[in-house]
Amino acid sequence: MLGKLNHVAIAVPDLKVATDQYKDMLGAKVTAPQKLVEHGVTVVFIELPNTKVELLEPIDASSPIASFLDKNPKGGMHHICYEVDDIDAAKSQLIQTGARVLGDGEPKIGAHGKPVLFLHPGDFSGTLIELEQV
Ligand code: CO
Repeated sequence: MLGKLNHVAIAVPDLKVATDQYKDMLGAKVTAPQKLVEHGVTVVFIELPNTKVELLEPIDASSPIASFLDKNPKGGMHHICYEVDDIDAAKSQLIQTGARVLGDGEPKIGAHGKPVLFLHPGDFSGTLIELEQV
């Protein structure tokens, strides 16, 4: 089911500060900020030769990232995103095996304009998993 690692996501309390750290201290290439209202976040991507790192900042206090930052005020690793060929087939297979799909269970359009789903961290060693159809 799983393809490539698409990205690792880090929640940050201040996207500007985090972006500058990656640019200035680590010499990274960082994309322009993108607001994803449906997901309650503003994101940038750090582009690496083999994958990406997503930095997530909550849009407001109702964002799921805001509660994560309440528990992790300095920020922290939030999720890992794997690529799949067929998100609906992946979803059916996962539900059959007892995994929980978050939200209303339907794929939403993610940061790359492609359908994504999130899987409950309680089912996967405490790690929130995002699946992205590529
Ligand atoms: Co992501």
